[in-house]
Amino acid sequence: MTKLLSLNDFETPARRRLPRPLFGYISGGTETTAARADNHAVFSEYRLVPRVLRGVEGRSLMHPLFGHDWQAPFGIAPMGIVALMARDGDVAMARAAQAEGIPYVLSGSSLTPLERVREANPDGWFQAYLPGEDDRIRALIERVRKAGHETLVLTADTAVLANRENNIRSGFSTPLRVTPRLLWDFGLHPRWVFGTFLLGLMTHGMPHFENSFAERGAPIISQRAARDFGRKDHLNWEHVALIRDLWKGRLVIKGLLSPLDVAEARKLGCDGVILSNHGGRQLDYAISGVRALTVSREEAGSMALMVDGGIRRGTDVVKALALGADFVWVGRPMLYAAVAAGEAGVTKAIGILKRELHRDIGLLGLMSPGEVSGAVLEAAQLPC
Ligand code: FNR
Repeated sequence: MTKLLSLNDFETPARRRLPRPLFGYISGGTETTAARADNHAVFSEYRLVPRVLRGVEGRSLMHPLFGHDWQAPFGIAPMGIVALMARDGDVAMARAAQAEGIPYVLSGSSLTPLERVREANPDGWFQAYLPGEDDRIRALIERVRKAGHETLVLTADTAVLANRENNIRSGFSTPLRVTPRLLWDFGLHPRWVFGTFLLGLMTHGMPHFENSFAERGAPIISQRAARDFGRKDHLNWEHVALIRDLWKGRLVIKGLLSPLDVAEARKLGCDGVILSNHGGRQLDYAISGVRALTVSREEAGSMALMVDGGIRRGTDVVKALALGADFVWVGRPMLYAAVAAGEAGVTKAIGILKRELHRDIGLLGLMSPGEVSGAVLEAAQLPC
């Protein structure tokens, strides 16, 4: 692991370890991949202005959110079917996040029962994909409540399945079709076949979507899985009002980009929003969450304004905070780290980002992430 110096370095070992369709599923974006590219491009548009000679000894990354003091202002974003990529991947990420004192969000399309992940991370959040059907909404919320979660994240940007051409090109599909090409690819990746897939099969049985709805979900290779995940097109703000009514814990809506939707979330009493274009995996050419920050700040009011997409460096975290974010989330690199080296890999990735941020805060002449403001940006780029 000595060659892993930055978050981007985890991609190559993950690519080597995984069959092509699985790596393609993680790395890909939709159509032209413009939305995914914008998530990275936006950061190079900003320059930082450090203050010097201020004495920055004893600075800290501690950062409050929802009444909890986290050990950094970033967390691990929800990602689906992780356990197919990395052995017991959801638990590995959950454990690493818990030990490092950062929040972790379990995906609603995960293959590990939420109750088991909850044991590994009692501070973890749960992300739900909900169909627009009241009974199923009620049942899932009850299950999440029983497991003891305090924060529920509702992902709102998947009304319709995205056009992920790259998945078709690389042979990834739901239901998963076992083709000669897929088997050949598996043959080229024996470490994944034996160390992740077969071991997972022997320990936990056939991979199922375990947390999609109230009951155990569909096996990943079944038609039913595809159908369940394709039926979210009638979810609307009235369902959010219902969820707000049923769910007494903290409610976060993920996948907003318009300040009008941020205002709607606030009106319905949500506790936070995550500005996100889903890692460039839903609507192509959707603006990056970071671009949506300044126009959303006022609409967010006292809600937590969070963002994800393309965050790879401490300076990316600083820029997002300077543009008005209260907290940020990291996706792909944490999954690559789990693929490359399990829980130890995720711990390493978190540590790298923490150290970068700690150094950057010091170089900016600040004592904590909470002190980051628009003043660290070049004057011409200050949010108005
Ligand atoms: C995701 N994302 C996602 N989001 C969500 O709300 N529920 C989910 O199940 C998933 N699944 C998922 C799988 C994979 C493989 C990826 C890469 C992403 C989106 C994720 O939470 C987040 O918004 C982006 O990944 C953030 O962008 P970066 O950090 O990956 O650039």
